[in-house]
Amino acid sequence: MLAKKVAKLINDQVTLEFYSAYLYLDFANYYIDEGLDGFAHWFEIQAQEERDHAMLMRTYLQNNDVRVVFGTIDKPDQEYKDLKAPLKAALEHEQFITGCINKIYGAASDEKDYRTMECFNWFVKEQGEEEKNVGDLLKKFKLFGNDPKGLYALNQELLTRVYAAPTLVL
Ligand code: FEO
Repeated sequence: MLAKKVAKLINDQVTLEFYSAYLYLDFANYYIDEGLDGFAHWFEIQAQEERDHAMLMRTYLQNNDVRVVFGTIDKPDQEYKDLKAPLKAALEHEQFITGCINKIYGAASDEKDYRTMECFNWFVKEQGEEEKNVGDLLKKFKLFGNDPKGLYALNQELLTRVYAAPTLVL
């Protein structure tokens, strides 16, 4: 059985992961409106990955006999002052999520809950990738995004992103 505190943190994280998907789809909506289909595509795939994270945590709880209860998914901001704003917001959001995942890992460690620690090792590593991916994109945008040809090329590059199913097996 999972400790109540650990189960609650993971349960709350399920809602946060669905919120992440919702937020990234909102970024995609913005970029579609701006005519940047590559940026939109990149965030649509990101949203799919967030949904995967939510579903993996949901399954993990269910495999441990925890009743999952969904929370309310907040409304995304919807106002972005320029093309860079969603990228900056995405990086800040991933840093926030890393903190949440670390909190779960820390709580599992306090409880000597080795099963949850083993499972969340994957999410700890995944957060490293998530921060790097969006951080790299922000750097590229700062380098090339203010030049129309550079922005066009970057948009084309982002169109090539391919969805990959999560490697974590529960
Ligand atoms: Fe589910 Fe982007 O972390």
